[in-house]
Amino acid sequence: MAALSNRPKYIGYKGATSLLRRILAPRRPQPRHSSLVTCQRSCYFRPRTRRERLPVKASELLKPTNREEADLLEKLDLKRLPEHLAVIMDGNGRWAERRHLPRVAGHRAGVKAAREVIETCARLKLPYLTLYAFSLENWRRPQAEVDFLMRLLREYLKRELPSIHKNNIRLLIIGRSADLPEAVRKDLEHGMRLTARNTGMKLVVALNYGGRAELVDAFNALLDRVRANGLSAFHADEQTISENLYTAGLPDPDLLIRTSGEMRVSNFLLWQIAYAEIYVTETLWPDFSRARLLEALVDYQKRERRYGGLGGSRGRAGSTARSKAADASGRG
Ligand code: FPP
Repeated sequence: MAALSNRPKYIGYKGATSLLRRILAPRRPQPRHSSLVTCQRSCYFRPRTRRERLPVKASELLKPTNREEADLLEKLDLKRLPEHLAVIMDGNGRWAERRHLPRVAGHRAGVKAAREVIETCARLKLPYLTLYAFSLENWRRPQAEVDFLMRLLREYLKRELPSIHKNNIRLLIIGRSADLPEAVRKDLEHGMRLTARNTGMKLVVALNYGGRAELVDAFNALLDRVRANGLSAFHADEQTISENLYTAGLPDPDLLIRTSGEMRVSNFLLWQIAYAEIYVTETLWPDFSRARLLEALVDYQKRERRYGGLGGSRGRAGSTARSKAADASGRG
């Protein structure tokens, strides 16, 4: 910002905060560098009307297919589910290698697991589910594997979009989607347009996504707007940064699941997971069944979320992360 301080027009910080915020807020509906992101403030989950009965038991929403699922559903408290679940789907390649299959067979099996997780989350009425499907770093894989992943994504959309739409799910994409192959981009745009008015779960797919790249894009978008508006004084705060991320308008994840046992966040939602509970399982992604998901949710509900405070009943997992994070005065 130093280079801007010579400009003649000065806006005092205090009085100008709201004006600056209005100027610097990304022009809805799309933050820069993420042309496919269409989430807006209005995309928040539709509040329940008073007459709608809140199911008291998870098994009312989800019919268990075996004893293990039934036991886990029994333990699940519907009132304390995460508002936003984010998943690093890892282990497709190893799953295939263990079966002496080509890696791409692991990706195919991974799509099946993704379908089951999406369906389960939608049935449980989770408001937001974010899946890490393709990172910026994934371009380093052999070209044949990258091509296969792109084809698989298009195939998935073609086959699943009707049921995504029928189930009132809204599809959103985060990442540098402008750099994806044109055919993929067109299919994604179609999927987002088709589901744009859906009011159920938001399914956010991270594609060509990198957490650092997202921050770089947010800072550059802010700088561009500061320059374009000739602002001589600018002070960013957490809200300003959040509003310029691909995820603007979405709550931060409450729970981050990573499969295949790796203890890394792999450049995923670096800003947004500041207060997320992290659950790492040895299960490889293609084996991440409904039971494994329920297990992770039950585990999450045992956590005490402190947000830098001292805990107590206010910090129980399942209460809204946003209000707690705002209250936090120290490190979590
Ligand atoms: C990690 O396995 C997974 C990916 C690279 C992402 C691909 C994900 C899918 C195909 C799931 C489908 C998702 C959607 C939204 C349709 P890996 O290859 O890194 O496994 P490894 O670490 O064992 O090699």
